[in-house]
Amino acid sequence: MVKVITYGTFDLFHEGHYRLLQRAKELGDYLIVGVTTEAYDKTRGKLNVVDSLVTRIENIRKTGFADEIIIEESQGQKVNDIRKFHIDIFAIGSDWVGAFDYLKDYCEVVYLERTKNISSTMLRAQNSPIQRIGIIGTGRIAARFIPEARLVSGVSTQGVYNPHTESAERFAERWEINAYASLEEFYGAVDAVYIASPHETHYGYIRDALAHGKHVLCEKPMVLQKGQAEELFSYAKEKGLILFEGIKTAYCPGFHKLLGIACSGTIGSIRNVEACFTKLENVANRELTDRVYGGSFTELGSYVMLPIFKIFGKEFSEIRFDTIHDEKGLDIFTRACFRFPTGIATATCGLGVKSEGRLLVAGTKGYVVAEAPWWKTSYFEVHYEDAGRVEKYSEIFLGDGLRYEISDFLSMINGNSSSEFKLTRGESVAMAEIMERFLEEER
Ligand code: CTP
Repeated sequence: MVKVITYGTFDLFHEGHYRLLQRAKELGDYLIVGVTTEAYDKTRGKLNVVDSLVTRIENIRKTGFADEIIIEESQGQKVNDIRKFHIDIFAIGSDWVGAFDYLKDYCEVVYLERTKNISSTMLRAQNSPIQRIGIIGTGRIAARFIPEARLVSGVSTQGVYNPHTESAERFAERWEINAYASLEEFYGAVDAVYIASPHETHYGYIRDALAHGKHVLCEKPMVLQKGQAEELFSYAKEKGLILFEGIKTAYCPGFHKLLGIACSGTIGSIRNVEACFTKLENVANRELTDRVYGGSFTELGSYVMLPIFKIFGKEFSEIRFDTIHDEKGLDIFTRACFRFPTGIATATCGLGVKSEGRLLVAGTKGYVVAEAPWWKTSYFEVHYEDAGRVEKYSEIFLGDGLRYEISDFLSMINGNSSSEFKLTRGESVAMAEIMERFLEEER
């Protein structure tokens, strides 16, 4: 019996896929099809797959060509599969010519002519037109957004707005995008808006963008008052628009894995979460000069609250802030202590005090620990009472990591709400409430 194997994502199943499977099957007697998992596709930089793994498998099954369907979870799996299943022929489309020659040591490698004028990428573009994103603000984070957005297919960065026209023009020139002198003109040219302006301006810009019918991705902290967050979410809903808070950690694959493992029972019941993020900031920067909205907690509080709310929920019974101020009265280090029905948590952040930035999740049977920069989660460990037993996990985190949130924002715009759970509206509202309480105490 001649055994053939082929692999692919098979998103939005099309004629090219059908013809490939048909010919692969004809090469032998038994065809195995490997279908990539969502997590593996993410590590390969394929961030925009539309169909779930189950749908993609079902579509392959329906062709009747596959005798067996397996999932492909990681790089390097192919060689093992070929040995394990005693494969005679590895077949793949001609877009991969040469890429799999290394498998010739294990079996015959056949590149099948690719069907012309059809691909999942083409279908995704047809089904969901490109979203033109406009940026409000020209700071450091806005500059990080552009190269990341370029890696997500389905979006293009159209232009930038900043009330300081000169800054907008300089930024536009650097990134080869348009600068808009008026907001009306700006909204007229875009489908969605990324807001990266100073915190206190977010509310006004979000409202305005929604009023102009634009989807909004807003940098954290989205707003600084609970009432504002609630109002904006209900306004977005009423207008049929997406309003999305950009806390990048919430969307990165490693953080998900960490939450999944921490909450799986392996460390027992979780009783304590400690999250710390410090970043020594230049004293001349806005974060350490703005007496009203500057300081550590408004800048970094969203990151350290995130794992706490994800693990314990939003219903805390007590909260207490301890802050160290500099001579100008600015918050250079803050620790927020929470009490929840099932545990306690601390969210610590600093712009003027350096500490060990780590995320620690402690349970009745063990703990999960991720060292700095855990907010770009790529590695964590699980420890138990038996000090010799340590489980190590790693996950990809590419570039600045904004690509993950941009890709989830895009899929929500395109009607796929499967990533909504990563940062719920309720969690964003709860964080705005904490910001409000903190700022009230500071005053
Ligand atoms: N394939 C093909 N003809 C096409 C498209 C794909 O023969 N027009 C083949 C690929 O070469 C591969 C298999 O189908 O062997 C699965 O490819 P996949 O990457 O899932 O499909 P694409 O349409 O190429 O997807 P994308 O546009 O996301 O790269």
